[in-house]
Amino acid sequence: MIPLSKPYITQTEIDTVIDVLKSDRLSMGKYTELFEKEISKIAKTKYSIVVNSGTSALHLILKSLGIQQGDYMIVPSFTFVASANVALFEKATPIFVDIDPKTYNVDPNALEDLLKKIEQGRMHISGQRVRIDKVRFFMPVDVFGQPVDYDAVEPIVCKWNLKMIEDSCEALGSEYKGKPCGSFGEAGAFAFYPNKQITTGEGGIIVTDNEEIARMCKSMRNQGRGEDEAWLNHVRLGYNYRIDELSAALGYAQLTHLEDILYKRDNVAKRYSQMLSEYDWVEPPYIANYATKIGWFVYVIKLDEKINRDRIIDYMSSHGVQVRNYFSPVHLQPFYKQLFGYTEGMLPVTEKISKSTLAIPFYTTMTIQEQQTVVEILKEAVERVG
Ligand SMILES: Cc1ncc(COP(=O)(O)O)c(C=O)c1O
Repeated sequence: MIPLSKPYITQTEIDTVIDVLKSDRLSMGKYTELFEKEISKIAKTKYSIVVNSGTSALHLILKSLGIQQGDYMIVPSFTFVASANVALFEKATPIFVDIDPKTYNVDPNALEDLLKKIEQGRMHISGQRVRIDKVRFFMPVDVFGQPVDYDAVEPIVCKWNLKMIEDSCEALGSEYKGKPCGSFGEAGAFAFYPNKQITTGEGGIIVTDNEEIARMCKSMRNQGRGEDEAWLNHVRLGYNYRIDELSAALGYAQLTHLEDILYKRDNVAKRYSQMLSEYDWVEPPYIANYATKIGWFVYVIKLDEKINRDRIIDYMSSHGVQVRNYFSPVHLQPFYKQLFGYTEGMLPVTEKISKSTLAIPFYTTMTIQEQQTVVEILKEAVERVG
């Protein structure tokens, strides 16, 4: 089976984790701090606060910005469910915005139209009119490692006074016009599940230049302890979102060869795009000219609309190639439909794109032969069952 993803673990990672095991410090030790320092260098932000998942990172950012019941947060539906769920955690409501059909990221025109519609009192969720003054947050997602067009969304964010949180969980190492993803907005988050560019097993991190956000996130990840971190002194509601030291050590070791990892992933992506260029029934990922660097997360292709994507998935899976539909829209997830009564037709571009996109195996150590096998099986699938 050629897997969809595979972590890249070298002897450096193994030695570094063993170093922790031989120490007495299994939580909040030197590697937690080292990892945070390295991430700050990559994101070019003043502060980094590592936590136990990307979801925890996004949740703490929103909490530190004072999200509360009755607030609304604009977010794309073409993303992982956690991007929207974090608003629900705080009894706020996500409002979904449609995407650009080429980049799969938030479409700035759709964002502007949506805000105008809300301003004119024409937007209702669960029978309630959405008030523009309650639309306080905007969470763009750098989908698959592709940066959002930040120059295009910035004037809209300013005009409507939105607090922007960058869900960069899939975009470690990506750059928009030379500026690192994660550094746009009030704060950003990266995630380190094993399918990501680098992994900590489970883990995520908040990056920000805002001292207050950093201070709040640091306290809330650690049971709401005060700045002195005194063990039984809790100054606010907090969580146990700490990362353990073994995971931080793994992440730190991974970062020692981040450039090599990104370079190798870029090569795999380029080889796929080259191999697929001879077929007119498939579109490789589109790379906008403002994406000056891409930290590739997954490699997602778009099949011709006439092809039955789901049959392709079944065929490839039963022929030794793991593939997945990426993404299934959040607004059409069963519990979103149940909560808000959403139905198909609400976000035409998101829905159309999500029916024909497909993530194919993609990992740092992928060989040309493995890629050729994937492309051959894909071609065979299209010919036989497409
Ligand atoms: C866009 C996006 N947001 C949030 C997350 C949540 O990260 P985690 O799974 O580490 O909680 C992910 C993870 O896959 C993601 O892809």
